[in-house]
Amino acid sequence: QWIVDGNVDNYPNDTQIQEVAEYIKNNQVVAFPTETVYGLGGNARSDQAIDKIFQAKGRPSDNPLIVHISSKSQLAEYVENITDNAKQLIEAFWPGPLTIVLPHNGKLSPKVTAGLSTVAVRMPDHPVALAIIEAAGLPIAAPSANRSGRPSPTTAAHVTQDLDGKIAGVVDGGATGVGVESTVVDCTTEKVMILRPGGITKEALEQVVGEVLQDPALTEEEEAPKSPGMKYTHYAPSAPLILVDGDINFLRKNVLASKQEGKRVGTLLTQEHQGLSEADKEVIIGSKEYLPEVARALYEALRGFEANEVDIIYSEVFPETDLGSAIMNRLRKAAGGKILQQK
Ligand code: TXA
Ligand code: MG
Repeated sequence: QWIVDGNVDNYPNDTQIQEVAEYIKNNQVVAFPTETVYGLGGNARSDQAIDKIFQAKGRPSDNPLIVHISSKSQLAEYVENITDNAKQLIEAFWPGPLTIVLPHNGKLSPKVTAGLSTVAVRMPDHPVALAIIEAAGLPIAAPSANRSGRPSPTTAAHVTQDLDGKIAGVVDGGATGVGVESTVVDCTTEKVMILRPGGITKEALEQVVGEVLQDPALTEEEEAPKSPGMKYTHYAPSAPLILVDGDINFLRKNVLASKQEGKRVGTLLTQEHQGLSEADKEVIIGSKEYLPEVARALYEALRGFEANEVDIIYSEVFPETDLGSAIMNRLRKAAGGKILQQK
């Protein structure tokens, strides 16, 4: 497995991009940075390439992939028709962390869409991702470049931790900026519906298309999610995670109770509460006052506890508005829904 060593100040040069594109054209799979998280890319027209993606990730084959394009006009090549809502959202947010679900026209590998009649497409806002897609001259299917169930990778090192030896190579473009994945919206219906909260907030979408719905499964356990990937356990750290909805004293009480039971305890804390949890290890996830920083730090923080380093992890929670919706969606999944409420 090769690594093209770039970073934010030193992106891969044109020759390197051409080399990477050759791998994609030859139906090999390659990890590269996007503005959200690292993706594991392969030719979206090739069954063989898509098989390699599912295999490397250990991903269930009923979970469809996002197709990445390098220009807005490419969308029309793969979808049946572009609804007015979709057009408005594309004008407002592409390139950017917004994935649009529309009926497809059958020109992509059916494995990309897991046999669904719709396809999820986005145009990433990252010079390296755009250059690779453009040089390959193909639509690139790219799920997050982690082993299925693990936190998504925000650095090339995270990709290597999970996929070393399982993929052709990694393009290192430094740490990603947004830190959580794209927002996935269903644009096949009259009203736009959020299937997965992410980098573009509901509030921002509503400024463009008016009222936006949310898949009820995002908040109600008994509903089956409309986005197949949302039903799986995800983002799991190396020890059980419990969310703590309460003040720092309540969190500390829970930490101390676990220590009494002889457990080694980790905490995911905002910097405002650094040093106040009494945990054996604290990992800081930014400031409560600035959610973009929390989003950016979240997956690195979830990877921040080595195997067997702690027995249990407690995390602070965040308000579920703006980027907080995506952050809390990921934290709830990472915790398998376990949350303690202060009385
Ligand atoms: O930011 C991102 O979106 C990253 C970067 C690499 O672009 N990619 C990413 O892909 O998060 P992945 O495969 O980890 O997540 C794709 C999500 C899954 O929840 C999947 O179920 C959903 O999109 N999805 C894909 N196609 C769909 C479809 N046709 N209908 C509904 N949901 C779909
Ligand atoms: Mg993923």
